[in-house]
Amino acid sequence: MSFRAALIQQTLDKGRIQEHQAEMVDLEDHFLDDSGGDAPVDIAVHYSGINYKDGLALAGKPGVARTSPLIPGIDLVGEVTASADPAFTRGDEVVLTGGGIGESAHGGLAQRARVSGQHLVKLPAGLTARQAAAIGTAGFTAMLSVLALQRGGVRPEAGAVVVTGSAGGVGSVAIALLAKLGYQVSAVTGRADTQGEYLRRLGASDLLDRAEFAEPGAPLQKRRWAGGVDSAGSATLANILSQTEDGGTVTSCGLAQGHDLPTTVMPFILRGVTLAGINSVTAPQALREEAWRRLATDLPLELLDEMTQEIALDGVFEQAEQILAGQVRGRTVVNLGADLERLRSRSGAAPGWGSVCGVSHPRFSR
Ligand SMILES: NC(=O)c1ccc[n+]([C@@H]2O[C@H](COP(=O)([O-])OP(=O)(O)OC[C@H]3O[C@@H](n4cnc5c(N)ncnc54)[C@H](OP(=O)(O)O)[C@@H]3O)[C@@H](O)[C@H]2O)c1
Repeated sequence: MSFRAALIQQTLDKGRIQEHQAEMVDLEDHFLDDSGGDAPVDIAVHYSGINYKDGLALAGKPGVARTSPLIPGIDLVGEVTASADPAFTRGDEVVLTGGGIGESAHGGLAQRARVSGQHLVKLPAGLTARQAAAIGTAGFTAMLSVLALQRGGVRPEAGAVVVTGSAGGVGSVAIALLAKLGYQVSAVTGRADTQGEYLRRLGASDLLDRAEFAEPGAPLQKRRWAGGVDSAGSATLANILSQTEDGGTVTSCGLAQGHDLPTTVMPFILRGVTLAGINSVTAPQALREEAWRRLATDLPLELLDEMTQEIALDGVFEQAEQILAGQVRGRTVVNLGADLERLRSRSGAAPGWGSVCGVSHPRFSR
């Protein structure tokens, strides 16, 4: 039996990518035999997604794909077809974001996956498989950011919360969540002309040009924000920290502008500002469960649908180019069109080793 997958093959020298090829292939089922650790869970993947990280991996940019060959895709949603982990049984609908898939272990851009149950979450009541994939790593990260603001004591009545990277995946979900929870949201974007209406529909009350935040500013600036959700890093994050009210919290999850942080200690020691780091990949299981429960109740699903576009597996290369060029709005789900009956009927079949076959549509070669 074979299944369709995106596959990245690279040669690495001291961690540097020397050669890179990403293509669509048919793989034998037993390609996944070594995956999933000691108690693997087999999944018929229904949906995956394209995050910024997936764009980097597919395009052969460093820092994401850490092994070769690798099925990319840091998200997957599907149905368990077999499980050596007692926490899961055949027929469970599950979602996995991060946990190393699509980076150091085979990921979700394939019709089948075999993963560790360590970071797997049962699909929360109230969400369909497609909606969970639409949330994906970006939406999960937005929820972790909102939880961090709440833990930091940032309440809606304290003042405006600023969100950067607004038209992107993390930003879009963060705006929708914060607005639903009663926060006044200021959206920083480079695309107010084309995405302004969209951002207002998500719940942004103000739109700010990201160019205003792009250059390093004074260590302490006029107080503007009770809190912030930042996916840009660099001078943008530094300026937001310098504009945050006493006792405010700003979360940092991304580096869309850059990985540097040209700031001083002044916002921290003179205004008691907290900078809260967000890492969705290694989030512990209890926090994962809490975040998914909250997403199912706090995220307006009609807005999630509005921010979501759907593509087929063959469209992932083009989508990777677009997300790296900053042309994608909101979230992209990948419909794997898994042939469930075929996968169910093969459960329990003797495993064996196989090889890559049926290569087509080679992309991103160098
Ligand atoms: N820490 C974690 O666990 C975690 C999880 C998910 C994502 N991330 C990171 O968070 C970031 C956002 O992820 P995403 O999935 O939302 O990506 P995305 O969909 O590509 O969105 C990124 C957004 O950032 C804005 N942007 C682009 N270039 C910028 C620049 N030079 N300066 C300021 N803003 C810029 C754009 O928004 P506008 O067009 O509105 O300006 C863009 O839509 C990425 O760096 C990603 O790797 C981290």
